[in-house]
Amino acid sequence: MTAQLIDGNALSKQLRGEVATRAAALTAQGLKPGLAVVLVGDNPASQVYVRNKVKACEDAGLHSVLEKYPATMTEAELLARVEALNNDPSIHGILVQLPLPAHIDDHKVIEAISPLKDVDGFHVASAGALVVGQPGFKACTPYGCMKMLESIGLGNLKGKHAVVIGRSNIVGKPMALMLLQANATVTVCHSGTSDLAYHTRQADVVVAAVGKRNVLTADMVKPGAVVIDVGMNRDDEGKLCGDVDFSGVKEVAGWITPVPGGVGPMTITMLLVNTMESAERALQ
Ligand code: GUN
Repeated sequence: MTAQLIDGNALSKQLRGEVATRAAALTAQGLKPGLAVVLVGDNPASQVYVRNKVKACEDAGLHSVLEKYPATMTEAELLARVEALNNDPSIHGILVQLPLPAHIDDHKVIEAISPLKDVDGFHVASAGALVVGQPGFKACTPYGCMKMLESIGLGNLKGKHAVVIGRSNIVGKPMALMLLQANATVTVCHSGTSDLAYHTRQADVVVAAVGKRNVLTADMVKPGAVVIDVGMNRDDEGKLCGDVDFSGVKEVAGWITPVPGGVGPMTITMLLVNTMESAERALQ
């Protein structure tokens, strides 16, 4: 059996088209949705990420501001910038790119962002809203994974067993909560799990979010299962690869996301969706 691909590029194109339509409608009413992206320091990967985020905004007709600061910026200066953006009515979403230089406390900066503009979904208020099932901004990567499941008719996971591998605040934990919200029975596995394959073999849906190659191999997957690969790693030849042994697992799974072209583009897409939603709320 060969799995069907869940194409993150195609789904992103569709969803970004929908954002563009909503952005045009809101702009016609005199409110252009705006995202501020703040980058401190010169981390090369972060520079690529923020460039992609700003370009995606422009392509969808959103206003975007990229604020770049040297690594010598102090925590107090960054907090002051966040506060100014909180009070800027042309900005509906604020994203401070992580990681920040070591002398700045990530947590303190994220908590300084208004929860009304926390389009990354990283603020404790956003995380808490997810826990209790109240509306708030959802973390973009797991939100994108949920959209991928929805796109194959699995918006409701009643009766399904989902296994999440990884327990990060950014992906694993919010992913588990979103799956739970969609009625799945959820198991979260992590570095302290003694027999990972035992759990994954029972799963109808596996989400791999560890950041390590070949965490999930064909022998660990139930035939027909849906496999979502959040990983972004490099193989021995320097080629981009995920956490899943794609060539093996695609012979067993029913559906699988590729890397690249799977979850990756969905993260930025959901950032646009969140920013759009924030702007629409501002008009209400
Ligand atoms: N660094 C890597 N991914 C992300 C992300 O999604 N948001 C922010 N703010 N920083 C990141």
